[in-house]
Amino acid sequence: MSLFHLGWFNGAGFSLNGWNAPGSGVGYEPWQPDQFQDAIRTLERGGFDFMILEDSSMVPEAFGGNPEFYLNRGIMAPKLDPVPLVPYLAMATKHIGIVPTLTTGFYHPWLLARLMTTLDHLTKGRIGWNIVTATTQLAWSNYGLQQPEHDMRYDLADEFVEITKQLWASFPASAAVFDAERNIAYTAKDVKPINYEGKFFSSRGPLNAPAGPQGTPVLFQAGGSPRGRQFAAKNVEVIIASCTSVEDMKDYYQDVKEHARSVGRDPDTVKVMFATGAILGNTDSEAQATADTRARHRAADLDGQLAGISNITGIDFSRIDIDAPMPELTTNGSQSSLREFLSTAKPGATLREVLASKTSPGIMGFPMIGTVKSVAGQMEEIMQEVGGDGFLFGAHIQPEYMASIVDRLIPELRRRGVVRTGYPHATFRENLQEF
Ligand SMILES: Cc1cc2nc3c(=O)[nH]c(=O)nc-3n(C[C@H](O)[C@H](O)[C@H](O)COP(=O)(O)O)c2cc1C
Repeated sequence: MSLFHLGWFNGAGFSLNGWNAPGSGVGYEPWQPDQFQDAIRTLERGGFDFMILEDSSMVPEAFGGNPEFYLNRGIMAPKLDPVPLVPYLAMATKHIGIVPTLTTGFYHPWLLARLMTTLDHLTKGRIGWNIVTATTQLAWSNYGLQQPEHDMRYDLADEFVEITKQLWASFPASAAVFDAERNIAYTAKDVKPINYEGKFFSSRGPLNAPAGPQGTPVLFQAGGSPRGRQFAAKNVEVIIASCTSVEDMKDYYQDVKEHARSVGRDPDTVKVMFATGAILGNTDSEAQATADTRARHRAADLDGQLAGISNITGIDFSRIDIDAPMPELTTNGSQSSLREFLSTAKPGATLREVLASKTSPGIMGFPMIGTVKSVAGQMEEIMQEVGGDGFLFGAHIQPEYMASIVDRLIPELRRRGVVRTGYPHATFRENLQEF
């Protein structure tokens, strides 16, 4: 079988990162880059393709209508801007892709295009952009804006990405001549305005930043709603899918590859990465016991679970009667997360029953539990069944957990010849598109 890719989603962004969770590491000063630098070095040692830095722009209040829960626990807030962290991560590594999250909601395309080109230069061609549309009204309110309706946010994002692509092409690398005798650095004829007049944005261009080593950053997206998948298949190179069964993965994979084909893209260049996490043990039953303990702790923390889903959907679950049949719920936030949350219980279940139906140990996407050999085997089998393209491990940064993946699981995957052993190319995109 061909190789598959590995990525890491730093799910808490530039935050306290599970400061009070077991295995979170000691000696790290909050709000400094060290723990992120150590983490990305570990991932590069393991041949990971990239690390994504999550982000959002608010102090959440969705659960209970105030920020108390989130600030008390230091979860989802406070949070610093991940973009200035990127050069620190680049300086700590040589090959791995670095993917900050930036939203089409609050940047202007020109500002974002220039920022990404700057980072492409500074990282020597290792930058990616995780495109998000800003799912909560609270974040929009910080910019004095009314949140657009769900599908319209993707219309806006379509236009946004189109403009950034044109801007990245507006100052091509070919304009650089550096002819010392004629005293010409750049030829003006290759640097052209784009004169884009859109429904949501306009930009004259050209960008005043010459193309970086990759020309455009590697584009990522994670929205799983029908409109989200359409957006992703049209625009991005890495699609993050959070699926809870292999069947679901297969459907997702085939759906986005088909969408990509229908808009004239080569589906092989669109990589689908499935969110996962592994609980490893010396025996399968030891790993299962760890998973069961974690699932029990999680189930006992009703507020923790409800605050999480409230934040993603914008629905205040503290106001829903826990013992009455669940009301019909809709969201202008993350539709796929709401669907996934409700999917484990029968129709008509109460909120308490929905929560009780969660047997997951709190791992995003598809959990894998067992010995190193059995988890590596599961990964190989899933890739064979689904068709590709890789897995996205996700968690806040826990050095102990990360080391268990890189130092125990990766050697077994390498022994089986299913993951990379090095980075043959200079840029993130070239390494990503190698297989
Ligand atoms: C693995 C993963 C990572 C995500 N990272 C972020 C993020 O950093 N910031 C953010 O605002 N949304 C993030 N999202 C949310 C998605 O961008 C998207 O808004 C969400 O999945 C809802 O999309 P949908 O309504 O199309 O299903 C993430 C989703 C997933 C599954």
